[in-house]
Amino acid sequence: MISIKSAKQVELMRKSCALTRELFDILEKSIKPGVSTKHLDKIAYDFYTSRGARPNFLNYEGYPGSICTSVNDEVVHGIPNKRCILKDGDIVSIDMGCELDGWNSDAARTFAVGNISEEAKKLIDVTKECFFEGIKYVKHGAKLGDVSAAIQNYAESRGYGVVRDLVGHGIGRGLHEDPSVPNFGKAGRGMKLIAGMTLAIEPMITAGDYHVSVLDDDWTIVTDDGSLAAHYENTIVVTRSGCEILTL
Ligand code: MF3
Ligand code: CO
Repeated sequence: MISIKSAKQVELMRKSCALTRELFDILEKSIKPGVSTKHLDKIAYDFYTSRGARPNFLNYEGYPGSICTSVNDEVVHGIPNKRCILKDGDIVSIDMGCELDGWNSDAARTFAVGNISEEAKKLIDVTKECFFEGIKYVKHGAKLGDVSAAIQNYAESRGYGVVRDLVGHGIGRGLHEDPSVPNFGKAGRGMKLIAGMTLAIEPMITAGDYHVSVLDDDWTIVTDDGSLAAHYENTIVVTRSGCEILTL
């Protein structure tokens, strides 16, 4: 079931999303060679709880971290670990969100650790551009497939892979609500977008083939060919004229 949020409810989500946005700025300053992903997780936990929010990934279906930290060929759902030390040249995707007063936020960015290759930089840029290409098509009355197709075309026409096994989603009182928001599809297909829908749009893009697998920890998703992956996600609300990005 898809829930349409009232202006009041969107205002509550805006507050949750503002915390997540603020936390990216804090984490960005700590992302450097020598720092463990567990350290980043602790910063996130402390930040959210000090603001009266709950890190909404923690214990979600048993997930053990407050945030996801996915390094290099890890696409998403990497578990923070004190033995996972970031090193110069790595890229790390941070996916995180919180629940504040019953309302969820969810967003992701891929960061450079120290100096990274041109190839990695390009991947990060294209992944972000995929999101912005997709939301050009978001507005009341548009079709979800228009958004999905735009993301897919943008990535694939540049030689990148679009992960199929994980998708974006509705968000609100629940972290994951209907509908699914794939990053691949056909224009003109899918459901109609309606003002007041709140969605997490999250392209997961690979520098090589798009096929992925789950590691033995039952969480971490990696590319099968070992190619680098990047992730860019925002929580948005559909409006009559387009959308508002709540986590940016
Ligand atoms: N943002 C992630 C997603 O939409 C949420 C992951 S929940 C976790 O898939 F439990 F896996 F962390
Ligand atoms: Co999400």
